This record gives sequence, C-alpha cells and structure tokens, in this order.
Amino acid sequence: MPTRREFAPRSLRAGDVARIDPNYRRVLTRLLAAHAMAEKLTALGYHRALETVDNSALREVIEKNYHEEHKHARLIYRLLEALGISEKQADRTMTILVKSPSFEAPMYFAQEAEGELDLLMASIALDATGLVMIGVNYRDSSYAPHAEAAEIILEEEADHDVFATEQLGRAVARFGAESVNAALREWLPRAVNFFGPPGSGFTYDCLRYGLKSRDNQELADLFLAMIEKRCGQLGLDLPDLSKEYPRAVV
Ligand SMILES: [Fe+2]
Ligand SMILES: [Fe+2]
Repeated sequence: MPTRREFAPRSLRAGDVARIDPNYRRVLTRLLAAHAMAEKLTALGYHRALETVDNSALREVIEKNYHEEHKHARLIYRLLEALGISEKQADRTMTILVKSPSFEAPMYFAQEAEGELDLLMASIALDATGLVMIGVNYRDSSYAPHAEAAEIILEEEADHDVFATEQLGRAVARFGAESVNAALREWLPRAVNFFGPPGSGFTYDCLRYGLKSRDNQELADLFLAMIEKRCGQLGLDLPDLSKEYPRAVV
C-alpha cells in the first residue's frame, strides 16, 4: 500500500518547519545533508578528473561540470544554513554514511578515479542517477526550497547526462566494447547502490512527509531500465546484479 503523504508538494518553507512535528526537521536536514555531500563529492570528482584525464578535448566540459556541481552543493548547504545547520555540522552527520555502499560511487570518484573511462562511468553513476533521484523525488518535495533548488539543478544535470550518453558511444569506439563492459562491471553496482537501501525506515519517513515520492528500489529500477536501453543500443553487456542491497555483480 502506498504511504500516505502528510504534506503537499512545496507546501512548507523554513519558517514553517519549527511549528510542525520536530521529526520533520530531523528527517529533512538528514536528507539535505546527504544531498549536499553527494553534490560536493561529485564536484571534487570532476576537480580530480582535471588532473587525471589527459584528453584535452574533454577539459572544457569537465571544468563546466565541476563548476556546476560546486554550485549545486552551495545551493543545498544554503538550505541547511537557513535551518540553522552549518556545512561543518551537516558534514559531521555524514561520517558513517559516506563509508556505506550508498556513497561508494561519489567517494570513489572524488578520491580514486583515474582517467577517461572512470570519468565516463562516474558520470553515468552520478549524473544519470542524480537526474532520476532529483527529477523524480525532490522536484515535488513538500519543502518548497528543496523543490526549487531541484529545479535549478535538474537543468544542468540533464546536460551532464547528455555528456555521459555521448561519451558512452565514444568510449566504445575508443577503448573497445570489452573495456567498457569491464568498467561497467565495476561501476554498475556502485551506481545502483547510490540510491540507498530499499524499504528503510528513513525513506518511509521521507515518503510520509512528502520529502521523497518513490522508494529507493523503484528509482534504482528506473535507472537500470534506462541504462539497459542505452547499453543495448551500443551492443554492451549489462552485468547481472544480486537482488539484495548492497547489490554486487553475480
Ligand atoms: Fe549535481
Ligand atoms: Fe551532475
């Protein structure tokens, strides 16, 4: 049975949060802290790519994406500040989460990714997933400032996703289907796990408060269907994944 939403899309602003259920603020700030951290790590990843990717034809787009991701992170940290939470405080609440499978994709991109193929895979794992997460979930958030930020972010994420799609075709031509398939085996579980565990208590609260509109599992399935279609068109093999979270190649 679908969870009943207590608050309509875009019905609350910072001033309203104090007068409703205090748990709303707790859930909202945790969600925003995770969103801000994901944007910040993605920005760091693009910044790292400026040093590890030697194809100069990609430099301009990497720089553009870096600046946009940085802007997305700023946008979300500003929302947290309006709720009385500094960037430092928000990041401190993420110390355990960033070590979990759901943050492996942005952490790997920010700290370990090397070269063009990793850049492309990160773009699929972060920008294509971001497009699904933000487009489906946050655009209709009951917290109006998050819905408004999502709208701004979405326009740019759509561009990043176009980049990833074009690059996937180019990567097959440049590195061969076998190398791209191997990179997909490494990155696809990270990408899917980025949606987080299915059916969690936290997501239940998000759904109930209208801070998300779909469960993580549903979003992960949407993403997988999208990637499957793209890979099929390019003759790539999508690896089979385990059913249980954290998902792994079987
Ligand atoms: Fe972003
Ligand atoms: Fe992006």
